Amino acid sequence: MTRIHLMWPELDKEMIEAAIQAWQNEKMVMGESVFKFEEEFARYVGVKHAISTNSGTMALSLALLGSKLKNGSKVLTTPFTFIATSNSIIHANMMPIFADIKLEDYILDPKESEKILRKEKVGGIMPVHLYGHPADMDAFMELKEKYNLVLVEDCAQAHGAEWKGKKLGSIGDFGAFSFYSAKNMTVGGDGGMVTTNDDEAAEKIRSLRDCGRKDKYTHIYVGYTARLNTANAAIGRVQLRRLDRWNERRREIADLYRRLLGDVEEIALPPKDTYGKSVYHLFVIRTKNGERDKLKKYLNDNDIEVGIHYPMANNQQPVYQELFGFRGGEFPNSEEAARNVLSLPMYPGLKDDEVKYVSEKIKEYYGR
Ligand SMILES: Cc1ncc(COP(=O)(O)O)c(C=O)c1O
Repeated sequence: MTRIHLMWPELDKEMIEAAIQAWQNEKMVMGESVFKFEEEFARYVGVKHAISTNSGTMALSLALLGSKLKNGSKVLTTPFTFIATSNSIIHANMMPIFADIKLEDYILDPKESEKILRKEKVGGIMPVHLYGHPADMDAFMELKEKYNLVLVEDCAQAHGAEWKGKKLGSIGDFGAFSFYSAKNMTVGGDGGMVTTNDDEAAEKIRSLRDCGRKDKYTHIYVGYTARLNTANAAIGRVQLRRLDRWNERRREIADLYRRLLGDVEEIALPPKDTYGKSVYHLFVIRTKNGERDKLKKYLNDNDIEVGIHYPMANNQQPVYQELFGFRGGEFPNSEEAARNVLSLPMYPGLKDDEVKYVSEKIKEYYGR
């Protein structure tokens, strides 16, 4: 068996052709494909507005900057995510504060969140639909109403995932997506999208991502050069048409892993769907203490690429320790997850035989 990758982006001839067509026939920046991609993405998610950006981090920041939040507002989020989640809050001149996750699904714990909301004045909340698994949006909407919060869903890993039949990114005030190459869909490079039903915010975000323009020569905000390039949007349009099929395949792969690994009691499998529908951006297992790195090496030695998302909680990151005075130990569940999670190969092109091989090797490691 040749080496099995952890993830593998799809980029076919139709996508490359679409990019070439866009370069040859449209403006390179703010060409027609950008606006078509936005319309199609808004329709797909089920919102009034989708505004494309040059990254997912920028999409998160612009959602905050387009909201009613003021400079310096506190925004509650999880320390167990890619660091861009909380960086986006800092970039928007706001203050990230953390609450711990639930170990069952690695997602911000609404109960831990409420403990903080009772004590501190917090303006926004940013749950992350980590690994493509939906956060409990009923709980977060309840917190939003009770504490008058701006709710930004970090959907960077959850394109097409659902909560009670609604697409993620359509439930809170804003959704923010990433199209980085490793995501469930890409634009063939970096890119992002903000989704919202708020007309006023959408208008502000559209301006902010384009140098604060009102029109060509009039600037009403200190804006950013944060546009999605036209050729990338053209690739994104083709990718979006493939997304549901790819996500279905990811769900099939997840079912197969579950069937094959269900009786390995030494590992915890990802949470099952409850009221939502996961799109398995990653298939993450959790080992007992001390086992993860040994299992990782065993799989690597057998030509299987695996990943760690994430080896440190963000309160353990040097930059946040310096900025905010964290010392580690503040968020036990996040830190336990960081010690023990392991991402198995997961992408639509992965074959059943490869899933079986990975599962066999895991069983072999545990002496089954
Ligand atoms: C959960 C999460 N939030 C935010 C981001 C930031 O997206 P980008 O890399 O497109 O800036 C990413 C991905 O990279 C992510 O995984």
